[in-house]
Amino acid sequence: MDTVKIALLGFGTVGRGVHKVLESQRQKIAKSCGANIEIKKILVRNVQKYRSTFSNISNLFTDDPHQILEDPETAIVVEVMGGIKPAFDYVIEAMKNGKSVVTANKDMIAECGRALFETQRKFTVDLFFEASVAGAIPIVKVLKESLAGDEIREIIGIVNGTTNYILSKMSFHSVDYQDALKEAQQNGYAEADPTSDVEGYDAARKLAILSSIAFNSRIVFKDVYVEGISKITPIDIRYAHEFGGVIKLLAIAKRNEEGIELRVHPTIIPSSHPLAAVNDVFNAIFVEANAAGELMFYGKGAGQLPTASAVVGNIVEAINNLLHKDRGRIGCTCYKQEPLISIEEIVTKYYIRLLVDDKPGVLASVAGAFGRNSVSIESVIQKRRLGELAEVVIITHRAKEKDLQNTVSLLKTLPIVRQIGNVIRVEGDF
Ligand code: NAP
Ligand code: HSE
Repeated sequence: MDTVKIALLGFGTVGRGVHKVLESQRQKIAKSCGANIEIKKILVRNVQKYRSTFSNISNLFTDDPHQILEDPETAIVVEVMGGIKPAFDYVIEAMKNGKSVVTANKDMIAECGRALFETQRKFTVDLFFEASVAGAIPIVKVLKESLAGDEIREIIGIVNGTTNYILSKMSFHSVDYQDALKEAQQNGYAEADPTSDVEGYDAARKLAILSSIAFNSRIVFKDVYVEGISKITPIDIRYAHEFGGVIKLLAIAKRNEEGIELRVHPTIIPSSHPLAAVNDVFNAIFVEANAAGELMFYGKGAGQLPTASAVVGNIVEAINNLLHKDRGRIGCTCYKQEPLISIEEIVTKYYIRLLVDDKPGVLASVAGAFGRNSVSIESVIQKRRLGELAEVVIITHRAKEKDLQNTVSLLKTLPIVRQIGNVIRVEGDF
């Protein structure tokens, strides 16, 4: 039986998971793809730390990338170190040296996809990145291959495990934001810098990757409108529940005649919505395609073994292609560039929480600000008194974002409006 030598760049949460899965499934993988897999080297920064912690494989660790990238025996490089620099340079060099690459790095794919895929094509190697989106869920393969004959109209997903974990803990276990974030970090879900998770950048990168494939257009991180969950308060979560909804960080990509809208933001959805039941570290992606219709994919979106599962699946595919001399078969599918629709042009419903003076005529003034900007109100509820002030929650009918922003600007100028507590977009009917 052949032995295929691979190397890992990184041995953190995901790298260790890949090692565990390869060890535990050694026989099954060897039998199914006809080759043994040998990890030849593992790149880390602090070699001593790893050698003393993982003494049984201490000889594998190196801090010299050239021992991997220029090693003619290494056929597949598995990049699980994260970040753009130096990961991008290493991946490019690996491909130039004829190695296939498997990566879990959404930052790199979402920001440098074009250069990576040009190199992949030029050197006829594989570049697989299933683990970069939604952990264990095999959504990249589904969009690239299974739905290749469909026209995708819409993707709506919960694609960040950390924020879904935080929102679930805040909603159902009254855990506060900081404690829930700490738990997500301890469980290995959060990025090295969790700002990327909580501010929505991680989800935006994943949406850029998914929509590039789904809409055959190169979409990068900066094309996606992003708002994170850091402004979501327990009171918004409670009011959403009272309205029959839940707050989720949604990644939304929709295509219509004018172009593609791309956005990541907290969203109130009805409790009956299929995505409302997706809790903790789970992710789910809803896809609407012209022939297949509505599809939903569900699974663990982060964590050691779920992510390693996606990485190892890609390693096995890369080995199969190598052994069958069929590398480079699946490459970039961005053959056009559809126009993008700016956030000001999107149409949705809104939840607005306000603190206003509690006196006659106030609601009429507030309603006037909405009316003057063509935003129609669906319901107004006075929630509670806070001294001389009243907290009011307004739900609008569907309105253009630009009109809603003008309404908020006008409300801020009214002396009776003391504070705009929060504005949250709403999807679906309650
Ligand atoms: P991690 O726990 O922080 O591990 C990173 C590893 O890479 C460490 O072993 C680190 O070694 C090594 N490393 C980082 N920079 C390096 C450099 N310049 N040179 C050599 N080694 C370097 O990260 P992780 O959670 O495993 O994530 C890895 C990748 O997978 C990221 O792209 C992440 O976005 C992605 N991902 C993670 C998850 C998840 O649930 N964690 C899920 C899906 C995708 P030292 O300790 O010596 O610095
Ligand atoms: N930090 C990411 C998350 C890891 O929480 O979803 C998976 O990409």
